[in-house]
Amino acid sequence: MPRKIRKAVLPVAGLGTRVLPATKVVPKEMMPVVDRPALQYVVDEALEAGIEHIVFVTGRNKGAIEDYFDRAYELEATLQLKNKTDILEQLQKELPTAGSTSFVRQQSPLGLGHAIWCARDVVGDEPFAVLLPDVLVKSKLGCLSQMVSAYEKTGGNMIAVDPVPKNETNKYGVISPTSQDGKLYGMSGMVEKPDPEVAPSNLAITGRYILQPEIFKYIEDQEPGAGNEIQLTDAMAKLMQHSPFHALEFDGKPYDCGSKFGYFKAVCAYAVDHPEIGDEARALIQSLQA
Ligand code: G1P
Repeated sequence: MPRKIRKAVLPVAGLGTRVLPATKVVPKEMMPVVDRPALQYVVDEALEAGIEHIVFVTGRNKGAIEDYFDRAYELEATLQLKNKTDILEQLQKELPTAGSTSFVRQQSPLGLGHAIWCARDVVGDEPFAVLLPDVLVKSKLGCLSQMVSAYEKTGGNMIAVDPVPKNETNKYGVISPTSQDGKLYGMSGMVEKPDPEVAPSNLAITGRYILQPEIFKYIEDQEPGAGNEIQLTDAMAKLMQHSPFHALEFDGKPYDCGSKFGYFKAVCAYAVDHPEIGDEARALIQSLQA
């Protein structure tokens, strides 16, 4: 049985330039998708998959994230006084247990690989998950839970992939699949943001990873790649030469909340399923189509 995945790294240092000016003062991860910050959905996905400790890699102007995962005594007291016990209980339920979160700081925006590397001491010498909070995956069983089930059989490293239109490969990391067993792929390589003409496939990396701790030494030696950033994809491509890698085509739909339209689509998708406003949201969308 492979070692249990207990820790998850969530890089939240990005500037959110694609959704400015909203992100001038609000971290993009805190933008609400209906009534919860996008980040809460990703944390829930991690917890559902059995994650016990979350390492947030933060940066400047991200203080709201730390505050969000802390108690809010004044707010709680006011809710108590006004007898708003439902909301109060919900707030308290979603609070991480004491000591189950860490915050490390990425001091310069050197890339996703570098952000993950900043978490190395907290992760230590054990396999871990990475969830990119820009991507919300809407699915019955969480994307990371699906990956953990697959990993329990394969061990090694696992990434989530999703087919994208061929002309969009330059927005993603893309894998070179070599074998397929149902939804599980073997692969020989991966490349960050390839032009469609040279992309090895249309299977894009979706922002969910299970990685062995050896990745840190490959990141450490990694030269900047696409966009002049230290890319996680480049370090994974090297680790793949020494450690088994699989890709899982998960069940579910990913939404890229880092882009304006992706964020809008996520809000619509979560609104129509929301227990409080779902019916009205569906009716509104239908009326707009009429
Ligand atoms: C990152 C990864 C890329 C992945 C993408 C998923 O890119 O580097 O491999 O496909 O997330 O959203 P970014 O969107 O941060 O440029």
